[in-house]
Amino acid sequence: MRTIIKNGTIVTAVGTYPGDILIEGEKISAIGLAFPAEQTDKIIDAAGKYVLPGAVDVHTHLDAPQMGTVTADDFESGTTAAAWGGTTTIVDFATQPRGGSLLQGYETWHRKAAGKAVIDYGFHMVIRQLNEQVLPEMDLLVRDEGVSSFKLYMSYPGDLMVGDAEIFRILQRSGENGGLVCMHAENGDVIDLIVKKALAEGKIAPKYHALTRPTKAEAEATHRAIALAEMVGVPVYIVHLSCADALEEVRDARQLGLPVYAETCPHYLFLSIEEYDRPGFEGAKYVMTPPLREKWHQDVLWKGLAGRDVSVISTDHCPFCIREQKEIGLNDFSLIPNGAPGIESRLMLVYDGGVRQGRITLNRMVELLSTNPARLMGLYPRKGTIAPGSDADLVIFDPEAKLVLSAKTHHTRVDYNLFEGREVTGVPITVLSRGQTVIEDRVFVGKAGNGKYIKRDHYQLV
Ligand code: URP
Ligand code: ZN
Repeated sequence: MRTIIKNGTIVTAVGTYPGDILIEGEKISAIGLAFPAEQTDKIIDAAGKYVLPGAVDVHTHLDAPQMGTVTADDFESGTTAAAWGGTTTIVDFATQPRGGSLLQGYETWHRKAAGKAVIDYGFHMVIRQLNEQVLPEMDLLVRDEGVSSFKLYMSYPGDLMVGDAEIFRILQRSGENGGLVCMHAENGDVIDLIVKKALAEGKIAPKYHALTRPTKAEAEATHRAIALAEMVGVPVYIVHLSCADALEEVRDARQLGLPVYAETCPHYLFLSIEEYDRPGFEGAKYVMTPPLREKWHQDVLWKGLAGRDVSVISTDHCPFCIREQKEIGLNDFSLIPNGAPGIESRLMLVYDGGVRQGRITLNRMVELLSTNPARLMGLYPRKGTIAPGSDADLVIFDPEAKLVLSAKTHHTRVDYNLFEGREVTGVPITVLSRGQTVIEDRVFVGKAGNGKYIKRDHYQLV
């Protein structure tokens, strides 16, 4: 199959220029001007549009069990929604079962994804219990299976949380096998005490989820994660950073030259703690961890993104329907499944609220959504850029098209939209995954099972 994308403006992390793209099979074979149209199967006219590298979302929770239920999107609905939003690769969290091995968790996630994904995917491995089997399994996963990153939770005691000694040993092993450790940085033990006290005082509404998770609990854990990684001499990647206090820890470390990376998510950039004051149980829609913060943190996060202290924007797509799922916590906020949807709207929100508002440049947006996550998670240069030899994962993006974000029109299975009614300017129109069209002029033409598991390389520092 030979495809030409012509007349578009190509945007990468480092440049913006007019150019045509020749795709042969699954790869970009050349970038130039006016390729001959003979023997071409398909010509896509991108006049007036940007051609972006497919976005890479390295924080999703599809078909993921949590708090007595399972996230509302499986690999088919989740990756379909991702494609609608211009995301062409995800890295999801395979999780070690309690009492089980890493390989069991890894195989379980392969079964969840097989035949379902419409775009490419990889897995991080969540380590929830360290035993003698785990360390050699880490090596095997990095070396043979392309699982080149691990996630540890410093929160959720009794379920996912690992202690400092375990973190230290896992960091040491990652230094030997080349894996990257990703940290959910919140002081889980302290938060648990604050939560118990609130419940004992009869504070059961969703807003207490936010009021029992102080920014200092995130900053303290971020500091500890960085210090442990520094002692071992390895990089560390802080997931879903939400507040100025935690960012200060990352910035201080980076100023010392330490390889410390942070991602934030659109909900922390556009939403704030007032959402929990919505009437009735509606605040439960915004129960994610860390919680939404006071509005002023948003500006600090944007400055961190522009000033290169925050390296990635991912979604932490962890969707639970308000009906039946979030409702588990109707009478106790601590039982509300933690997580929010976002896999489809990331590129549109960041373009509309970031680039159009002058907070970041177009090239920085590409770096944050595609190039940096691809580099840090060992997908680059196959993913994350537009270059000969790279996969033809491409987004034809209309910077003037408008769309109203809504549960009535989105493609995830979750029954609400965090940004309901918000109009964005800038919409992905056509999306290609390895040369195959998945979205064509805002029509889904992809196929479940076309997405492939990607064995990832070691991280590259950014
Ligand atoms: O609320 C969130 N972020 N849910 C997903 C699990 C986690 O904490 O990362
Ligand atoms: Zn987390």
